[in-house]
Amino acid sequence: MTRRMPAVRRAAPWIAVVGCFAASMPVRAAEPTPAEVFEKRIVPIFKSPNPSSCTQCHLAGVDLKDYILPDAERTFRSLRDQGLIDLAVPEKSKIVTLIDMGGGAKGPNAVNAKLRAVEREAFLAWIKACAADPTLKATPKLDEAERAKPARPVEVIRHARKDRVLESFEANVWAWRFRCMNCHTEGTPQNDKYRKEYGDRVAWVKKDGPAATLEYLIASKLIDPVKPEQSLLLRKPLGEKHEGGLKFVVGDDAYKGFRTWIEDVAAIRGNKYTAAKDLPPADTGPERFGTDLWLKFTNCPPAWGDKFLQVCVFAWDDKKKAWGDTPVAVSDRVVSGKGKLWQHNLTLLAAKDSDRAKAWRGGKPSLPEGKYLLRVYLDAGGKLAKDWKAALGDDEFVGRAEFTAKWRDGYGAMTAVDAAKVRK
Ligand code: HEC
Ligand code: HEC
Repeated sequence: MTRRMPAVRRAAPWIAVVGCFAASMPVRAAEPTPAEVFEKRIVPIFKSPNPSSCTQCHLAGVDLKDYILPDAERTFRSLRDQGLIDLAVPEKSKIVTLIDMGGGAKGPNAVNAKLRAVEREAFLAWIKACAADPTLKATPKLDEAERAKPARPVEVIRHARKDRVLESFEANVWAWRFRCMNCHTEGTPQNDKYRKEYGDRVAWVKKDGPAATLEYLIASKLIDPVKPEQSLLLRKPLGEKHEGGLKFVVGDDAYKGFRTWIEDVAAIRGNKYTAAKDLPPADTGPERFGTDLWLKFTNCPPAWGDKFLQVCVFAWDDKKKAWGDTPVAVSDRVVSGKGKLWQHNLTLLAAKDSDRAKAWRGGKPSLPEGKYLLRVYLDAGGKLAKDWKAALGDDEFVGRAEFTAKWRDGYGAMTAVDAAKVRK
């Protein structure tokens, strides 16, 4: 719908009046019309094959393009009627605020900051041009159904935010990284050695921590977006042509964590979630913290040989004079039948947002010296191999044992328990 000929409105009447003075007076360059600004600055954003600056934080669900329609006037009405533009103070427009979320043109991500500056200037120039156009401002409301907005509901947009994905990464992947240390940790002597031999690809646990590791992983080939369960990040630790050997068995806690996270990321990146009901259930379990605290069973009975064994560690509560209700740590691994030995590091658990969780998040997770109880489960029937989501329970319970521990860090300072002490 064309309502007017903007070029005529601007120049013609004025020139007619001042006629002969025109040559001696500075002629102001004609202000471009909203439609011209839109064509020149907004359409390229709309048509660009590249993602907008929003993708720095939104892995899916929302993009600046979602707010643009092919037509200038309808885009204006769409944004105006959703309260996304402020015609009195264009800088305060909600659409500009969304672009500024990354910290404006000075945000920490340099590449993205440039992109953001271009988007911001484009929208500001266009909104200002619109604000100066009374006819455009007077256009009728645009039908709700025609307004441009993200196709995904707000729950999906929230779920696909990078800070949320990072939170889940920390709980599901980062917590188990000690199984991969230090072979894969950038900047360690062991990783330096492997890097010389296998190249930079072995340094996928980044020295800058979980956020940097997440950035690397989601852009890498280690996650298969189409067949997430086939991701190298799962297949390698399952022992497939892996120099590091067998680090997971299907269904163990680390496998569960990695797979849960990988499947979620694949679904987010593949834009598979369309409604709130498609989202995975919220993680209501405890927070998990990887450690270099080690526990071992000596003298494992033959019945345990080469079977998957899981332990839950409970602490003695001196005030209540009882064992804690929930485990403070877990660990799981296959028993070495030949060596009659089981040993592994502990992952500590703390209720979400509890004082202990906060302390462990800020500092180094540790357990105090004292009295502890182990509850031991053996997957003799291969339950987890049949269903990776299954949990070991009463059917797999083989007994309990009390022990004292100093919990010193490191493989060389393991807490040892005689397996003969494990009784029902
Ligand atoms: C630096 C990170 C970052 C960037 C860049 C970013 N966002 Fe956001 N966005 C967030 C965060 C964090 C929230 C939640 C904040 C809140 O609830 O106040 C959010 C919330 C939103 C919401 C509201 C959803 C809800 O929870 O109600 C929308 C819509 C949105 N962003 C769109 C965009 C668009 C469009 C862009 C790009 C023009 C963008 N964002 C760029 C971090 C970002
Ligand atoms: C003892 C050292 C060691 C441990 C522990 C180890 N790895 Fe590895 N891993 C390697 C080496 C060396 C390579 C490179 C050669 C190869 O591909 O097998 C590798 C390769 C990989 C690769 C392929 C990287 C790429 O980009 O090609 C992945 C993924 C991987 N490991 C995951 C894991 C995970 C997950 C863990 C922990 C649960 C783990 N590894 C534990 C030594 C180790």
